[in-house]
Amino acid sequence: MANRTPLLAGNWKMNLNHVEAAGVVQKLAWTLADMNYEKDKAEAAVIVPFTDIRVVQTIIEGDKMPIAFGAQDVSVHDAGAYTGEISSEMLAKLNCRYVVVGHSERREYHGEDDAIVNAKAKKVLAAAMTPIICVGEKLEIRKEGTHVAFVLGQIDGVLAGLTAEQVAGLVIAYEPVWAIGTGEVATPDDAQEVCGAIRTRVGELFDDATAEKVRIQYGGSVKSSNVADIMAQPDVDGALVGGASLDPVEFARIVMFDKK
Ligand code: 13P
Repeated sequence: MANRTPLLAGNWKMNLNHVEAAGVVQKLAWTLADMNYEKDKAEAAVIVPFTDIRVVQTIIEGDKMPIAFGAQDVSVHDAGAYTGEISSEMLAKLNCRYVVVGHSERREYHGEDDAIVNAKAKKVLAAAMTPIICVGEKLEIRKEGTHVAFVLGQIDGVLAGLTAEQVAGLVIAYEPVWAIGTGEVATPDDAQEVCGAIRTRVGELFDDATAEKVRIQYGGSVKSSNVADIMAQPDVDGALVGGASLDPVEFARIVMFDKK
């Protein structure tokens, strides 16, 4: 993990309405406090539905909770006649720190490709927030054994046109699609293989200092029972957690991964 602060982010997906969100965030904060959480050691973040952001912001800022928050998607457009879309400026105005772009569920159900993901990442950066850019292969590609080349191809596409400084500050989430919501977690070696290859590629595309700084998460069936072994890998700097992040006690245990 070198000098990189780990980021444990809970992607709630389309779960928890704004009333439920308030309770979950409060319980998460109390549980972390009980566990003597120190935010310098690991960063905790919740990535919530758009309709939850305002209440989550109000609670976290009002009570000065040591929890970051963010959104699950953003428009490629700045403003205008795009019914149903949410702009990066709107998210920045709500003090979102993170915005997930290119989640495999957006790629699968909304036809997002690397060019769209790249455009979204640029919008997030332009609004002074941090993109969490998702990549990852489907099961067929993993079975063929071409997963490293496939993911590196995604990396080339999603990072195109960014500066080294921008890349140094962003987060890449490696989420193998076959491990998402399936209970089938990648082995720590599987996670390290791809996260290490991503870091090497960032070094080739930009420079070594950028590769050293960029944070790379693993995502896919992460739980408190398997997070420590995954986090022990040298190129894994955090986790993007789906289902297990909906339970605030379980997610707090994940954030405190090095203290069972
Ligand atoms: P699960 O943790 O539910 O497998 O989801 C992973 C994920 O997609 C996080 O973005």
